Amino acid sequence: MSDAINYERVGDIAVLAANNPPVNALGLAVRQGLQAGIERAEAEGAKAVLIYGTGRTYFAGADIREFGKPPRAPWLPDLCARIEASPLLVVSALHGTALGGGLEVALSSHYRIAVPSAKVGLPEVHLGILPGAGGTQRLPRVAGVEAALDLITSGRHIGSAEALKLGVIDKVEEGEPREIGLAYAQELLDSGAPRRAVGEMPAPAAVDFDAVYDKVLKKGRGQLSPAVAVRAVQAACEAESFEAGMKRERELFMELMNTDQRQGLIHAFFSERAVSKLPELKGIEPRPLEAIAVIGGGTMGAGIATAALLAGLNVTLLEMNDDAAAAAKGRIEGNLQGALKRGKISAEQFDALTNQALTMATDYEALSEVDLVIEAVFEDMEVKKQVFKKLDIVCKPGAILASNTSYLDVNEIAACTSRPEDVIGLHFFSPAHVMKLLEVVVADRTAIDVVATGFDLGKRLRKISVRAGVCDGFIGNRILATYRTAADHMVLDGASPFQIDKAMTAFGFAMGPFAVSDLAGLDIGWAVRKRKRAEGMDPRARDSSYADKLCEGGNFGQKTGKGYYVYGEDKRSASPNPEVMELIEAERAEKGITPREFSDEEIVRKYMAAMVNEAAKVVGEGIARRPLDVDMTLLFGYGFPRYNGGPLKWADIVGLPDLLADIKRYAEEDDYFWQPAPLLEQLVAEGRTFDDLNKEAS
Ligand code: CAA
Repeated sequence: MSDAINYERVGDIAVLAANNPPVNALGLAVRQGLQAGIERAEAEGAKAVLIYGTGRTYFAGADIREFGKPPRAPWLPDLCARIEASPLLVVSALHGTALGGGLEVALSSHYRIAVPSAKVGLPEVHLGILPGAGGTQRLPRVAGVEAALDLITSGRHIGSAEALKLGVIDKVEEGEPREIGLAYAQELLDSGAPRRAVGEMPAPAAVDFDAVYDKVLKKGRGQLSPAVAVRAVQAACEAESFEAGMKRERELFMELMNTDQRQGLIHAFFSERAVSKLPELKGIEPRPLEAIAVIGGGTMGAGIATAALLAGLNVTLLEMNDDAAAAAKGRIEGNLQGALKRGKISAEQFDALTNQALTMATDYEALSEVDLVIEAVFEDMEVKKQVFKKLDIVCKPGAILASNTSYLDVNEIAACTSRPEDVIGLHFFSPAHVMKLLEVVVADRTAIDVVATGFDLGKRLRKISVRAGVCDGFIGNRILATYRTAADHMVLDGASPFQIDKAMTAFGFAMGPFAVSDLAGLDIGWAVRKRKRAEGMDPRARDSSYADKLCEGGNFGQKTGKGYYVYGEDKRSASPNPEVMELIEAERAEKGITPREFSDEEIVRKYMAAMVNEAAKVVGEGIARRPLDVDMTLLFGYGFPRYNGGPLKWADIVGLPDLLADIKRYAEEDDYFWQPAPLLEQLVAEGRTFDDLNKEAS
């Protein structure tokens, strides 16, 4: 008998207790243990079997680490069939999260009881697969087709109450899973309850599956798994028998298992968890953090303050004068109103957050007792230095002084204080109470416990925190600047901004780069271009000016109603701005460029090659520690499609030698922009991948 499943007899009931921390994933030893447990219970003449999990949860799913490896018997679908076929009464008692294969084991049990706090779900589509152990066949039989389609295609978790209502579980009871499970099994035995196999229940009636398939495919923006899962549910209704439906589920499961999207999504799952686990932070205590201050209450500062308030921190917001403070308070209240409307906070919490946890101030003295200050003032080195000099005077010893700069040199900022070890960059993304990414920018002299506190803050704000080194733009904005430039070059050479946006949204980005510029405000890019030109651009760098002309005409994108696109009242109805093509054509003529045709495929290839090449430089220079740090930055801050895993996972999948060959070919036309990253050349020469680097670093 395997250690992963403990076998115990309590009267007529054989108790199988899973013991595979942390989440009782259904790895080989667990599957073997369950099978052996059922067999032993039958051989020993037990009348019922209780299955439950020790520790924090019932089975949270198949063991994702086994995916992609040769499967070893007993397979989960066979195990589920074996459990269901048992002549004994099989009961599962659920607590924690019964997800994926976990819920499938529960559904192959004959009865299910759960504690009120338990959650159940079939989240497989988020991993690029579908429930592959009968979930698509059994769930519609107990909950109906509509509910099954909703749960399987969304992957959402539901609580006990909803699961009870839908018939996914039979009973909800307070208590320990072992105790409530034993009592329920005994009650069923005492009442002579029949063995009740879901697979033997009649197939539910079919719906218009083609229509559902189309709708789900469209909603997933190119993600395959939810749509393919619809076909599996269809088989539950239309196949000749339960077994035929199971066979169809298996075929579709294997189809998805072999996709690149499955690889990308599983990479995202593990990287999301690995990204904030840094070896150097092991055992380092973060500094205490209860009260923070934010300087500047514009969109960014107000967003940061909102996120901190929602995380239970006390926030002092410093503005220049009373009017600005009142406007900032209005912004924060507006953000919190949104949280109130969505049911994230109650009216009482809203009052407490705005009246007690938030303090508005106009005098630096108000910051003397806070544990951490985040500066979110105008993006200008001199202005930032003024702020940090003042903070250096008023803040208590040990207070952390953070800048929310998006590209300025944090070392230079730190150097103007007497305590550079307390200075760090905390780069939020707008709107900061919504966007998940936080770049923790570590300067040369930042103390290690200050870094740990940055990550601690990120965790408390429920952000995905990524460690970044100091350079122009850190990880994300530096890479963005490069692929955005590649897009500008393609526009000069003959592609239109609208074609590029279309090609990149078809690739899976939520928005194309030009629509994003309109959203962020074209004045931002304009300021960056002006700064770069003032600093002196390399004469070999291609520059373009048509976007400047748009700005000179007062068109800054969505906020002025016109940019690359013309916006209607609701900002949703956008159509290409015809003036843009006129400006582009004028610039091409001026530069003597004869425009050529670009295919969507070429656009994607070039755009992605620029992104990957810069990302490889960022990793090679140590600005990002690991390729996965870049991947998570692009996923959580830049709308990169999760199912492609991130730019460097995507690069591994399409093949590094081909990408490098592309870059070298592009370099024949522009060898300044297309300088291959040394790390990319090295990996190709050694026949290795970016993921190999991730593995070495973990
Ligand atoms: N397999 C392997 N490892 C898993 C795992 C799984 N199914 N689920 C979680 N883990 C690991 C995590 O990687 C993490 O490991 P580290 O500590 O080494 O980083 C650890 O368990 C704890 O996980 P979290 O940090 O995520 O803990 P949490 O409490 O925040 O969340 C959870 C727990 C809700 C279970 C969450 O981990 C989760 O959503 N897991 C995935 C659940 C899932 O997708 N199940 C379906 C699997 S696919 C399937 O079952 C296919 C099938 O039909 C046959």
